[in-house]
Amino acid sequence: MATAEGSGSDEQGQGVETSVTYYRLEEVAKRNSSEDLWLVIHGRVYDITRFLNEHPGGEEVLQEQAGADASESFEDVGHSTDAREMLKQYYIGDVHPSDLKPESGSKDPSTNDPCKSCWAYWIFPIVGAILLGFLYRYYTSESKSS
Ligand code: HEM
Repeated sequence: MATAEGSGSDEQGQGVETSVTYYRLEEVAKRNSSEDLWLVIHGRVYDITRFLNEHPGGEEVLQEQAGADASESFEDVGHSTDAREMLKQYYIGDVHPSDLKPESGSKDPSTNDPCKSCWAYWIFPIVGAILLGFLYRYYTSESKSS
């Protein structure tokens, strides 16, 4: 079962205690039969055993992803908002943080941002401001001399 439990939020003493169950990927990988079928989608673990024969896209595609990370195939199909809402019913926990790998398309700047040192974010405005300063001085001195 779960290897770790932790608080899912920073709320303390507010009466709403949320706890997340974490699962190791090796644990998820064992749940790959039609009697017990788990999937990972975007770092979340879903027990979709009872959903198998209800899936509009068929049982087979789910069985192919059994016990594995199905994020890519789930997105490739272009599932509707309804389908995304349905996921909640089958959510059982999160992938253990030490098993998480950054997804392509994630917002982690160290993996996807081509501007790793981020110098471009400030160098262009500064150069632009200097140029504007020169232009301003050039035009004001020209209008004074004429
Ligand atoms: C628990 C996870 C999933 C849920 C709740 C889910 C739900 C749904 C729903 C509601 C539909 C009907 C169309 C829509 O509303 O988008 C659908 C269609 C479909 N799903 Fe899933 N799905 C899941 C996982 C997957 C995975 C992992 C795959 C791919 C390997 C997949 C492949 C398909 C396909 C091929 C269709 C048919 C698309 C079509 O006919 O246009 N689904 N799914």
